[in-house]
Amino acid sequence: MAFYDNKVITMSTETIKIFDTTLRDGEQSPGASMNTEEKIQIAAQLERLGVDIIEAGFAAASPGDFDAIDKISQRVTNSTVCSLARALDSDVKAAGAAISKAKMKRIHTFIATSSIHMEYKLKMTPDEVIKRAVRAVEYARTFVDDVEFSCEDAGRSDMGFMKEISDAVIEAGATTINLPDTVGFRLPFEIGAMVKEMSEYVEGRAIISVHNHNDLGLAVANSLEAIVNGARQVECTINGLGERAGNAALEEIVMTLKTRSDIFSAYKTNINTKEIYPSSRLIANITGIEPQPNKAIVGKNAFAHESGIHQDGMLKNKETYEIISPADIGLDMDDTLVLGKHSGRAAFKDKLRKLGFALEEEALNKSFERFKLLADRKKEIYDDDLRALVTNEMTSAPKVFELISLQLMDCSNGVPSAAVKIKKDNNEIIEAGIGEGTIDAIFKTVDRISGYEGRLDDYKVKSVSEGKDALASVTVKVSFNGEPAIIGHGLNIDTMLASARAYIGALNSYLSMEGKLKSRHCDSSKTV
Ligand code: KIV
Ligand code: ZN
Repeated sequence: MAFYDNKVITMSTETIKIFDTTLRDGEQSPGASMNTEEKIQIAAQLERLGVDIIEAGFAAASPGDFDAIDKISQRVTNSTVCSLARALDSDVKAAGAAISKAKMKRIHTFIATSSIHMEYKLKMTPDEVIKRAVRAVEYARTFVDDVEFSCEDAGRSDMGFMKEISDAVIEAGATTINLPDTVGFRLPFEIGAMVKEMSEYVEGRAIISVHNHNDLGLAVANSLEAIVNGARQVECTINGLGERAGNAALEEIVMTLKTRSDIFSAYKTNINTKEIYPSSRLIANITGIEPQPNKAIVGKNAFAHESGIHQDGMLKNKETYEIISPADIGLDMDDTLVLGKHSGRAAFKDKLRKLGFALEEEALNKSFERFKLLADRKKEIYDDDLRALVTNEMTSAPKVFELISLQLMDCSNGVPSAAVKIKKDNNEIIEAGIGEGTIDAIFKTVDRISGYEGRLDDYKVKSVSEGKDALASVTVKVSFNGEPAIIGHGLNIDTMLASARAYIGALNSYLSMEGKLKSRHCDSSKTV
C-alpha cells in the first residue's frame, strides 16, 4: 500500500485542517439529535479542542438548526463556523444568514456527481448538475469568501466529470473541493489515487478535502492515505459519529498523525490533543451514544490492561504495552477520585476548570448545589460523575416542567402505579396513574399532567461510575405530537427518578424547540 511505502521527505510541515462535522453529519446518526443548548456546548468544546472548521449544521433543514447555527456563530471566535447547503438558492440563502454573525465563516454546498445519484436521485444531466453547482457557489460567494464545494459520492464518481465540475466551481469562487466517499466504499489505495490525481489537477487553485464514511471500517485509513496524497483538509467527527456506520473519527486521525510522527513528520494539526477525551465524554453524555468499549483512543478499555503479563510489563515500563500516554488525550488515570461531601466551592470550581468546564457564575452555583445534594448521598464522586452532572446542568432546556417528587407503589404484586408532583409556572400539580410497568406508569402520569402525549422510541440506562451508589444516567428518545424524536437525560442515584427526569427533560427540550422541528426533513423533491 502506498501509505506504508510513502516516506514523506519534506523540510517544512504542512497543516492539515480539521473540519469537524459532529454537529451536522454526526447529528445524522440515528438518535443523535440535540437541542440548541447542547449544540452550543459542543461547539464551545470543539473550539477548545482547536478544530479549524466547525460544521454547525444544515441551516435550511429546520428553524431549530438555523437557530443553533446562528447562536454558535455568535459564540465561537477561534474556529470558522460553517453551514451545509444543498445547491439551491433557498439553502444557500439560509446558510448565509445563519452564519452571518460569525467572525470566520464558510458555506459548504454540495451536489451529487456520481452517475447513479445524478440519474436516479437527481434526475439531472451532468450539464445541469454543473450549472446548479456553479450557481450555488456564485451565490454563496455573495455571502462569504470561504466556499466549500462537495462532489457528493465522489468515491463512485467519474474522475473526468469531477475535474470538469471542479474547474467550473473553482472559477465560480470555491476555495475548497471536498471529495466525499459518501457510502464508505473505497479502499485506502483507491482514495489515495483519487486524491493524488485531483490534487495534481487542481494544482493549488483550491484545497482538496476528504470526507470518508466508515461502512467498511476504513474511514480513518482512507483519510490518512488522502493526507499523504495531497488532501489538506479532513472531515471527521468526535467518536466517529455520523450517518450509518459513521464518519472518520477525529481522535483516531489526529492521534495517528501524532503517534506515528516518524511517518507523518511532514504534517501537523492545530488540535490540542488534551481536549480529546473531554470532547469525547461531552458528546457521549449529550447524545447518549457511548463509544464501543474497545474503540481506539476513547473507548472505556482503550488504556485498560487486563492480563497479568501486560500488567507486569506496564509496571516495569509503560512503553511495553502503551503507545499513547492517556495524559496526551486529557485522560488522567491517577486522579479519578475527586471530591466529597466536605469539598468547598473553590475546590469544585478548580476541579471543573481542570475538566475543561468554564462555567458562568449562575451555572456554577446551580452545579455546585447539585453536587452538594449528590455528595450527601454518594461517598465518592469521580471525574465522570462530575462531567455527567455538569453537562446535564449546562445543556438542559429551560425548565417549563420541573419534577418535585415521585412516589411509586409496589409493583411486584399489584398494578404498577406512580404519583408524580410537578411544578409549572409556580403551581404544583399532583397526579397518579398506572401503567404496564413502573416506567410506563411514570411516563403516562407525566403525560397526563403536561397534556403532551409522548411516544417512547428508546430508553437506555447506564451507571456513570462504579459502586452500588453509582449515578444512573438515563437517556430517552421521545416523540411528541408525531414530531422528530427528542433526547432527554436524567441523572440520579435512583434509576426511577433519573427516568422521570429524563422524560421531563425531553419534554422541556421539545417545548424549547416546538415549531422549529417540523420541516427538519427537507422536501425530498429538492434532495440533491
Ligand atoms: O457524505 C457526504 O457525502 C456528505 C456530504 C454532504 C459532504 O455528508
Ligand atoms: Zn457524510
